[in-house]
Amino acid sequence: NASLREWAAAKGLIYGAATQEYMLSSNPQFASSFVRECAMLVPEDELKWKSLRPSLNRFDFTRSDRLAQFAKTHNLLFRGHTLLWHARLPSWFKSTVNHRNARQIMLEHITKVAGHYAGQMHSWDVVNEAVFPEDGRSDSLRITPWLRFLGSDYLDLAFRAASTADPQALLVYNDYGMEYDTPKDEAKRTAVLKLLERLRSQGTPVQALGIQAHLWGGETRFNPSQLRAFLKDIASLGLKILITELDVTDKHLPSDIHLRDRLVAGIYQDYLSVVLDEPEVIAVITWGLSDRYTWLSQRQARRDGEAVRPLPLDANMRRKEAWKAIARAFKQA
Ligand code: G3I
Repeated sequence: NASLREWAAAKGLIYGAATQEYMLSSNPQFASSFVRECAMLVPEDELKWKSLRPSLNRFDFTRSDRLAQFAKTHNLLFRGHTLLWHARLPSWFKSTVNHRNARQIMLEHITKVAGHYAGQMHSWDVVNEAVFPEDGRSDSLRITPWLRFLGSDYLDLAFRAASTADPQALLVYNDYGMEYDTPKDEAKRTAVLKLLERLRSQGTPVQALGIQAHLWGGETRFNPSQLRAFLKDIASLGLKILITELDVTDKHLPSDIHLRDRLVAGIYQDYLSVVLDEPEVIAVITWGLSDRYTWLSQRQARRDGEAVRPLPLDANMRRKEAWKAIARAFKQA
């Protein structure tokens, strides 16, 4: 029957997933599942500074070009992640970049990378995870090298450089921790909204918010009306919304696979039923497609040693309860 790509497209939505070049090239069954289920591909690692820039003056697009080619061959949309982040920086960064050269190095990176893929990108995560209220600043910006060297205008600078380099790409501000009815997530939502209001008011070419939506199975619940109101507030700024890294950590769920799969599916269903009610939501991207390849295996491994099961397909590419829940959410959108 229909794939997630088709269920989403029937409602004018894009479903896609993150993946890495070695996963596609080493596993034909995974590659064919990816092409069947997805309308968009986002590189999980290949478009980050560490992957692209082995030295200050050398860029290596070999691996990211292979993903761009895979997308083109299979007529998948291609999205970029991420032009500016404080993580996954190359080993030379710390000893090379300082307050004198940071602006030029940042602008050169964005111009070169967004320019290399100009016209091919559905969207770019121009800046990733810049808001961090815990750092205690009045503007709630995370204290990163970019902030330290360039001040709080670095975001505007980055978005303007990206817009100049690729006027066709949708320019996204991407962040996590905006999902739950907790003081921390509420503070994050408020701070992100304030930042986007400020950027929009000064004419910064930010066109969308990327909500990563790394969800958790277990006691934390979200509050549908609170979440719905946040999405409305974002939309009222004239911004589109993408769910950019959706997955469900099952670390704290029971060992029994059938029960765990049903609980994970329920979380996909509950979250997407709220989110897809917002007309400005244009895409849902899961952070991986198959349990065979998920960052959560390392980062959120289960204490019982069982393999994690966060994604729509199992490790053998079979559709799970989560797949059905996502399909149903598109159907009911
Ligand atoms: O490619 C190298 C490989 O050559 C080496 O042998 C291996 C062991 O050291 O490391 C490999 O690099 C790893 C890379 O993923 C590719 O698999 C890095 O160690 C590892 O740190 C990196 O983790 C990624 C992480 O971002 C940091 O870039 C995860 O796969 C990726 O899922 C995660 O994704 C982030 C988003 O970009 C932003 N939002 C949060 C999300 C989850 O943390």
